[in-house]
Amino acid sequence: MNRAPTPRKTTPPIEVRGSARQPLGMPPAQFLRDYWQKRPLLVRNAFPGFVPPIQPEDLAGLACEEGALSRLIRHDEARERWQVKTGPLTEADFAKTGDANWTLLVQDVDKWDADVAALLEPFAFLPSWRLDDIMISYAEPGGGVGAHVDQYDVFLLQGLGQRHWAISTDPEAPRDFRPDIELKQLREFEPTHEWLLDPGDMLYLPPGMPHDGVAFGGPCMTISVGMRAPSQAELTGDLADYLAERLHDDQRYADPDLAPAKAPGEIDAAALARLRKALPFAAALDEETLRDWFGRFITRYRNAQLPAVPDRMLDEAGLRKRLAAGARLLRHPWSRMAWSRGKSGCTLYANGQAWPAPLALARQLCAQREIAPDAASTAPAIATLLALVNDGHLVLRKVRRR
Ligand code: SIN
Ligand code: CO
Repeated sequence: MNRAPTPRKTTPPIEVRGSARQPLGMPPAQFLRDYWQKRPLLVRNAFPGFVPPIQPEDLAGLACEEGALSRLIRHDEARERWQVKTGPLTEADFAKTGDANWTLLVQDVDKWDADVAALLEPFAFLPSWRLDDIMISYAEPGGGVGAHVDQYDVFLLQGLGQRHWAISTDPEAPRDFRPDIELKQLREFEPTHEWLLDPGDMLYLPPGMPHDGVAFGGPCMTISVGMRAPSQAELTGDLADYLAERLHDDQRYADPDLAPAKAPGEIDAAALARLRKALPFAAALDEETLRDWFGRFITRYRNAQLPAVPDRMLDEAGLRKRLAAGARLLRHPWSRMAWSRGKSGCTLYANGQAWPAPLALARQLCAQREIAPDAASTAPAIATLLALVNDGHLVLRKVRRR
């Protein structure tokens, strides 16, 4: 019987020793309990006598194939510049590399090479659909991709030569990127742990852990078994598409119970209740989220055009001056507006955007084509009007003199 291990009371060690029988240095259940998605683990000798299933020349050959995902990364240390060339690569690309400070990375090598795919067998204790790919890197001394964070769990198995790994287990460590580099390298990196890995050693990292691996001393090959975990945004987007594909076009928002509108632009409680009926899968959404989404959606739904943004932006003083001079404020014909009352006040929606707005102003904006000059009598009203003017929803017109 497969029993879950009892919870442990002390902090588990960050470094253990593996064996042919236990590549993780412990039973999988213990690894899952103590390390998986929680903390890093260095397993020395995870694969005793490890021999890489692919040679560097074959990896370089694969990087030149149409359809293989590869990157060649060179680091100019003196000028602190990074150069990235995406595949398919050519022999000429490799001719420029020199004997230090570069690395080649090839993704999905398991799909191209059955011997590489066989490396996945020891990871069969994880659901196979959690696996993303095996990425293999080859690097000359000093080569690496720089300090970064990955969004997925990864097992970094040293295949050939040595790699210096530095990681930071500090939960407060900054995770913002350097703005200048497409590699999404960290702006700052202060390691808390450093190791030199030999062939057969393996480092497990949970998602979000800053790390930096640099080839040390000679040619270096690292095999990354990467996992995947869809983001909530991806899951939500796909679920919505999935559900939408299965709904018939005549299944629609319906309001046979409609009562005469007291304020024409309002998205009221009855409308939100009808929405919940039309979207049973949105039952878990709170009122504020449902209202905010619907306000944005319905004001851009089936709009053939958008209001044009004015040539010149106004500031508050400019708007006040124009209104004082008698300019009229007209709603742009392509502007669609609605408003709703929420916990934090009234929100005005226009063509998919939202602004806080005084209730009386929101009502007026939705009900009238021309806005009365006294609508701009308070600071919050002026702020809303200014935003609408600068986004083109309201247009200032000079008064015609006869
Ligand atoms: C590597 O360069 O092989 C490892 C890349 C990584 O840190 O994800
Ligand atoms: Co990484």
